[in-house]
Amino acid sequence: MSKTALITGITGQDGYHLAELLNSKGYDIHGVIRGQQNPKRIRVEREQPYVKLIEADLTDPSSLIRAITTTKPDEIYNLAAISHVGYSFKDPILTAEVTGKGVLNILEAIRLTGSEKSTRFYQASTSEMFGGLDYNRPGKGYDENALFHPRSPYGVAKLYGHWITKNYRESYGIHASCGILFNHEGPRRGLEFVTRKISNAVARIHLGKQNHIELGNLDPKRDWGYAGDYVEGMWRMLQQDKPGDYVLATGETHSIQDFLELAFKEIGIADWKPYVKQNPAFMRPAEVDILLGNPEKAEKVLGWKRKVDFSGLVKMMVQHDLELESEISLT
Ligand code: NAP
Ligand code: GDD
Repeated sequence: MSKTALITGITGQDGYHLAELLNSKGYDIHGVIRGQQNPKRIRVEREQPYVKLIEADLTDPSSLIRAITTTKPDEIYNLAAISHVGYSFKDPILTAEVTGKGVLNILEAIRLTGSEKSTRFYQASTSEMFGGLDYNRPGKGYDENALFHPRSPYGVAKLYGHWITKNYRESYGIHASCGILFNHEGPRRGLEFVTRKISNAVARIHLGKQNHIELGNLDPKRDWGYAGDYVEGMWRMLQQDKPGDYVLATGETHSIQDFLELAFKEIGIADWKPYVKQNPAFMRPAEVDILLGNPEKAEKVLGWKRKVDFSGLVKMMVQHDLELESEISLT
């Protein structure tokens, strides 16, 4: 019999890729959609008609209880969050409500519906919880045992989500796992994140639709992988006999300048500097300077490994945006 999955964050990047993966495995897929007139509903309905949408909001426990009672999922993937680090400084209280307490709302919904033994739970934890400081960074990169030191309201909220998930695993025996995922990107990435902002601007510059891009801090380094690879790891976590926490990462780190270099090369520009202006509006009150993950545990236990490398990722994103922007009439 096919399994049933409930995915929060279905309209986001990872929701898209995970739904695609679970559909290929024959799952019955329910996606949580929020708001009366969510403009992204129509995209999901058109592109992923196999997803059944159910109205709920992470800040509304009753709606989550309703979603679980109605769909009776074997697996819940909690991908919903206020996920933009810069935005979390502007709206820290909402971030705490959604990204932090929202996780508790789902776990309580699992408990109150008596689903502790019948439902497996995935929490989208993040490398932002490590903070990228020298004192807590192991030589081979952050692993599952590294110290946390979040540097943003988002990171702090995610740390709450991480620990409350572990607490419900230990207290109530829920098969609950946390994927500590390092940055993963792709053509489905929101335009507000730096990689997609760059790939899209590069395509538009090539097509004469804009002449420069405004960015904040160009020095930070990230362990960037492809989102399509990472959702496979999420699924594998929930197929294990025992729940656990796993880092998913590439084990490589690159700066934003490295990303710019490769992205502009795709359109034949060797020197990207004349096309980039720095704008303090995109700087953050506290920065995560460097993230590097150590995915050894996931590779050994889950048999997971990223397939797309850094240059393949940049190429994929720029080529996608060149196609997309060519199709949209000049604006
Ligand atoms: P994303 O594209 O920003 O998607 C976030 C999703 O959360 C959207 O579907 C959004 O729905 C939903 N959402 C926001 N507030 C909600 C609420 N109150 N109730 C219900 N849904 C709500 O994020 P992503 O890149 O796919 O990431 C998925 C998850 O992984 C997030 O939790 C993120 O923090 C975490 N993560 C991501 C990365 C990464 O590099 N991508 C790395 C580590 C961890 P609307 O359409 O209604 O806004
Ligand atoms: N968004 C953005 N926009 N970031 C910029 C810009 C800009 O114009 N200019 C420089 N940056 C820098 C940020 O300061 C940060 O150091 C880096 O680019 C990456 O920023 P984002 O792409 O916004 O991603 P993030 O690393 O802060 O957060 C993402 O990855 C986390 C995992 O480490 C998000 O997906 C989080 O949800 C996720 O948890």
